[in-house]
Amino acid sequence: MRTLNVDLGSRSYPIHIGPKLIDREELITPHLPTRKAAIVTNEVVAPLYLQRLCATLARAGVQTIPIILPDGEIHKNWQTLNTIFDALLREHCDRATTLIALGGGVTGDMTGFAAASYQRGVPFIQIPTTLLAQVDSSVGGKTAINHPLGKNMIGAFYQPRLVLADTETLQTLPAREFSAGLAETIKYGLIRDAAFFDWLEQNIDALLALDPQALGHAIEHSCRIKAEIVAADETDQAERIQLNLGHTFGHAIETGTGYGQWLHGEAVAVGTLMAAELSRHTGWLNNEDIIRIKRIFHRAKLPMQGPALKVPVYMELMAHDKKTEAGKLRFVLLKSIGKATVKNNISIDKISSSIKTYSTNS
Ligand code: NAD
Ligand code: GLY
Repeated sequence: MRTLNVDLGSRSYPIHIGPKLIDREELITPHLPTRKAAIVTNEVVAPLYLQRLCATLARAGVQTIPIILPDGEIHKNWQTLNTIFDALLREHCDRATTLIALGGGVTGDMTGFAAASYQRGVPFIQIPTTLLAQVDSSVGGKTAINHPLGKNMIGAFYQPRLVLADTETLQTLPAREFSAGLAETIKYGLIRDAAFFDWLEQNIDALLALDPQALGHAIEHSCRIKAEIVAADETDQAERIQLNLGHTFGHAIETGTGYGQWLHGEAVAVGTLMAAELSRHTGWLNNEDIIRIKRIFHRAKLPMQGPALKVPVYMELMAHDKKTEAGKLRFVLLKSIGKATVKNNISIDKISSSIKTYSTNS
């Protein structure tokens, strides 16, 4: 098992990474203030891992209340969130009941938001079961639901007390979902760590083959970078914005196509290609860098071309981006592979051209 720490003073918490961690009650129980926990999961993950987690907690005398949500990004909304509150109230859950998210980023984001707001805040644990959630969404305390007009628009910063990434759960993850998680993994190399990008180029096939050593290293390294960034800028005022590389375009793709058509990681991959192109227009990345970025996404089996959305649709959707300041769009761009920066005042022509380079029929 590999263990890291997210350093946030009195709200610091461990990230444990390794196989079969779902079976380790001694890793979970120190973080429960009482012997009552609600496990929020979904209809796909429940048949795979819920019973095992309940058995683990039962061994420690913990009463568990399962809450099973419908599957998919399309359900990351108020209505589903309300079903969590309904169950918590029905089961007389009090302020010391811990909410445990068991699943991917959709489950984690919704459970975190429920934990932040139920009775003004209850303890929260993340047990991520997708690559994307293990390298990114379970760490750092961003919680949210979607709005029809914008992705993750309603939410809160609310940190978990523990992240338990059981790497064996990735064995049941569909290949398309695994690739989506690679998009966020590659992001860390692009924004901050050229050597990690090199390592990913050399090990992408091992990762796709679920090689345990390669997976452990990639998840640990990604979490280490994320933990450093979150410790330095928990609420997204400065450095943390870099984690949104490709997300301005990517969120527009997800919202514009209707949530769930494009996986988050897929939209981020195409959004990153657009951001890389914008970086090239700005005079930073060169053609060789663009080729390397395209090649690694291709090898990770990620889409290289966006949907048939027109530029004005992107512009309208991107106007809701959370990075927008005083009506001005801000983009995370790459000065080089391994070094990100945030830039505003980019001409519409350059933005438009970057979108068109990676769009179908535009
Ligand atoms: P997801 O939660 O929808 O999971 C993907 C699919 O895999 C789902 O169908 C799920 O039921 C299934 N699944 C989960 N674990 C499985 C397993 N072990 N075996 C088989 N199937 C499994 O999607 P995701 O990619 O994990 O997360 C995407 C979400 O995360 C988006 O809503 C995005 O906005 C959010 N996100 C949040 C942050 C953050 O910092 N909070 C960061 C990145 C992404
Ligand atoms: N995934 C972006 C962030 O956590 O800030």
